[in-house]
Amino acid sequence: MGILETSNLKTIFLLLVIFVSSTPKGNSQPLVPALFVFGDSVVDAGNNNHLETLVKSNFPPYGRDFINHDATGRFCNGKLASDFTGENLGFTSYPPPILSKEANGNNLLLGANFASGGSGYYETTAELYNTVPLSKQLGYYKEYQKKLVVLVGQSNATSIINGSIHLVSSGSSDFVQNYYVNPLLYKVYTPHQFADILIQAYSHFIEELYGLGARKVGVSTLPPLGCLPASITLFSEDSNKCVTKMNTVAEYFNKKLNETSLALKAKLSGLNIVVLDIYHPLFDLIQKPTDFGFFEARKACCGTGLVETSFLCNKESPGTCKNASEYVFWDGFHPSEAANKLLADDLLVNGISLVS
Ligand SMILES: *[C@@H]1O[C@H](CO)[C@@H](O)[C@H](O)[C@H]1NC(C)=O
Ligand SMILES: *[C@@H]1O[C@H](CO)[C@@H](O)[C@H](O)[C@H]1NC(C)=O
Ligand SMILES: *[C@@H]1O[C@H](CO)[C@@H](O)[C@H](O)[C@H]1NC(C)=O
Ligand SMILES: *[C@@H]1O[C@H](CO)[C@@H](O)[C@H](O)[C@H]1NC(C)=O
Repeated sequence: MGILETSNLKTIFLLLVIFVSSTPKGNSQPLVPALFVFGDSVVDAGNNNHLETLVKSNFPPYGRDFINHDATGRFCNGKLASDFTGENLGFTSYPPPILSKEANGNNLLLGANFASGGSGYYETTAELYNTVPLSKQLGYYKEYQKKLVVLVGQSNATSIINGSIHLVSSGSSDFVQNYYVNPLLYKVYTPHQFADILIQAYSHFIEELYGLGARKVGVSTLPPLGCLPASITLFSEDSNKCVTKMNTVAEYFNKKLNETSLALKAKLSGLNIVVLDIYHPLFDLIQKPTDFGFFEARKACCGTGLVETSFLCNKESPGTCKNASEYVFWDGFHPSEAANKLLADDLLVNGISLVS
């Protein structure tokens, strides 16, 4: 699709959002009742703050460009792509992290965030880091649903679940923080075999989510794993080139994700599931950052920008950049708020069928 067509589509969609979400009184009403988020650090909004884990980000400089410069536990200098998606859907606050004290009372009506950094489709990824695996995220969702029934009654709860968007973003940690650094995996499985195992787990996860009443699901692809600054530093033979082999595996996974999602859609009646491609927009941004107003795609903003994430990215880290909006990556693994904003615009175009 050409740039012009893409931006026209975006404009049309944004107009639609503005149109649908404006009532005569000018009060805005979100396009869907609530937003539910599952996955890893790409979408964790602070659940890990409440766990005994090293995979945390609730300290500066994380959050330095967020509302009130608050280090909420998002793995970013500012907002996540899922935060922008929530805003684009017309929400004025973010679904609370399920483990936080905000996840209470009427706050629950707008949804909840179940994601946990350092978790994955593969159960043992979360075990390595003592974080919340997807199976347990579903367990929390079941408990959430009981609370929702108490708040609004069974029939309203059912229609909230049925009408809301469920975002799923996982798999990066399975590869980068588990497979590629774990001899128990990389000596036993080829990366493609491991991808197949993840896809099976994905399929199972979606069936369970469907069983809990979810009917609108957006699942993100893997990013170009071989272009994450930490991947280049740790695994590339050329310190300035993406690791082609890792990208090939991500593309393989994404293709399977697409096929499997189509199969799930055919099998589970009434399921609207959309694959949200973050691979290509991020890859284009990394190849030609200046076309999009960025200056640096190899090094991340935090610290040396070569590997740091979680506790290694802290306020003592020497070299942290001044202006993260010039950087595609905030830390060694995670995009900056500015890159997340671009990704979220693409998600809108991809995900249009979930709201129309
Ligand atoms: C359920 O929704 C209806 C219609 O929106 C509303 O009138 C009613 O109060 C709700 N029930 C509860 C228990 O909140
Ligand atoms: C669920 O939503 C679909 C539209 O997405 C609608 O056709 C269906 O009647 C709803 N079911 C319930 C139980 O609310
Ligand atoms: C998924 O497959 C459909 C149909 O073949 C295609 O249009 C779409 O671009 C694919 N999406 C991704 C993310 O590969
Ligand atoms: C940061 O960089 C962005 C993108 O180049 C630019 O628009 C903005 O003005 C810069 N902000 C500051 C405070 O220099």
